[in-house]
Amino acid sequence: MTRIIKDTKERLQGLEQTVHGGNIWEIADENTVRKGLVIDFSSNINPIGPPERVYEAVRENLWKIRFYPQRDSKNLRTKIAERHVGLTYKNVIVGNGSCELIHLFTQAFVESNTLTLIPIPTFSEYYYATCKVGGNVREVESRGDLTFDVEKIIGNIRENSIIFLCNPNNPTGTLLDRKSITEIVEYASRRESLVFVDEGFIDFTEDPDRTTLSCNVSKYWNLFVLRSLTKSHGLAGLRIGYGIASEEIIEVMHKLKVPWNVNCLAQAAAEAAIDDDEFLDRARKIILNERIWMINRLRSIPKLRVYDSEANFILIDMRPSRLTGREVSNRAMENGLIIRNCSSFRGLDEYHIRVAVRNREENTRLIRFFENLLGYA
Ligand SMILES: Cc1ncc(COP(=O)(O)O)c(C=O)c1O
Repeated sequence: MTRIIKDTKERLQGLEQTVHGGNIWEIADENTVRKGLVIDFSSNINPIGPPERVYEAVRENLWKIRFYPQRDSKNLRTKIAERHVGLTYKNVIVGNGSCELIHLFTQAFVESNTLTLIPIPTFSEYYYATCKVGGNVREVESRGDLTFDVEKIIGNIRENSIIFLCNPNNPTGTLLDRKSITEIVEYASRRESLVFVDEGFIDFTEDPDRTTLSCNVSKYWNLFVLRSLTKSHGLAGLRIGYGIASEEIIEVMHKLKVPWNVNCLAQAAAEAAIDDDEFLDRARKIILNERIWMINRLRSIPKLRVYDSEANFILIDMRPSRLTGREVSNRAMENGLIIRNCSSFRGLDEYHIRVAVRNREENTRLIRFFENLLGYA
């Protein structure tokens, strides 16, 4: 092996790629997926999406595929900015999925040994993206009920640090109120630190307008808010997410972003989807209703410890049943259901699983599976 490859491999040793849900193409063949013969409860995507106007936009914009797309998605950024009071396109960055923006953010602001606070358990990409660029991760343990410990987070903030907050949090479904996050942002601002708030699932909470930090972006120089149309509008295959922040933060990130990172069909789809408030309201109502129904039904099955959730997914501790997450997800797969085994989440053990909230017919199949699995059918 040449030295350059050998050295790079050594440098990256210990950097484990993250595990995610939604590996549908590894689990099933195209025909099975297309016919809906497997149901994916492992990725938390809008169960009614994408909206019809997205399909229309993709069809209408197919002619563009022989041209480069807008290099920095300016039209889409303008449209997004118009939805937020006091912002212009210079406060917005668009990514090939929101995941790209997590990596771009750490690439931009995490230097070797920058202290990065990550309350756990949470989405694993923050950890990976930080380690990749040599940052120094300090994980902040949650309380016993898995809610974030705001005082502990604030107590760990130092000069020039970075704080990642997932709200609502994946995989726990817990939600911090705006006041708590604002406290963190204000304290961080005094310590010259940046706060990254991932609101990828906020559209599925009961009252997003009351909780979102997006309205505070023009007030706080150190706040970055992330959104994902992948989740909210069911565009997982097209990939689209965006971030809003002060012009300074966005400018730095644009400097490092690869050109044409979002293709023309994804830009067109997002431009069509972003205004469809009726679609989001409808999805939110279905999810709220189904989540309550699922939690009640799951709690009626003994040997499942079901956590509260404010999001479109539910965390379950299987320990009372003595079945591990791996065993449960394997058994689910035999029944055409994909469930997220959460043993890879830092801060959770091998008994945790996560299930997405989907439509009633699909959710009923999931409940039946658990009833049969645990002998309470
Ligand atoms: C909390 C959170 N943030 C970001 C992402 C990345 O989503 P995407 O890149 O599809 O927008 C995910 C995906 O699961 C997630 O759970």
